[in-house]
Amino acid sequence: MDLIDLTYVSKASYEVDALILLPILKDSLRWNYDHQITGVLYYDNGYFGQILEGPEKQIIETFEKISRDPKHSVKRILEKRKIEKRMFPNWSMQFFGADEILKMIPILHGSLSTYDTQSTQILDAMRTIGKITI
Ligand SMILES: Cc1cc2nc3c(=O)[nH]c(=O)nc-3n(C[C@H](O)[C@H](O)[C@H](O)COP(=O)(O)O)c2cc1C
Repeated sequence: MDLIDLTYVSKASYEVDALILLPILKDSLRWNYDHQITGVLYYDNGYFGQILEGPEKQIIETFEKISRDPKHSVKRILEKRKIEKRMFPNWSMQFFGADEILKMIPILHGSLSTYDTQSTQILDAMRTIGKITI
């Protein structure tokens, strides 16, 4: 099985609250589980950052679906690469909001909007959560 991960940053179309977030997370858990997709979703300061990992075909299909979602607009794919093993094997889609980001990855706090100039730093910061035990 060809495993890949795809990491992107998007801008929320409007202020995100629990009413918007809960259906996204509910859909994600179900769909991702059924399609062997794992990963993390960050939301901070009007921007999302997401790492999707799984079989190539499923990731492409899922990313196309997510990209069509009017709740946000994808700004930049930070990286799409082949991987040997998953960083987040136990997370269908683990969510981290601003408070958790501030606590666990302070360097990421407030920085998703700088995807144009700081893409490498953001990518590294988004991946560190796989190495932290929560
Ligand atoms: C930032 C963001 C991340 C999302 N991540 C996922 C995801 O990982 N898996 C998923 O199935 N849907 C995800 N969604 C939701 C989909 O875009 C879509 O709304 C949902 O799957 C329902 O699609 P449908 O209305 O075509 O059935 C995400 C949406 C947003 C805004």
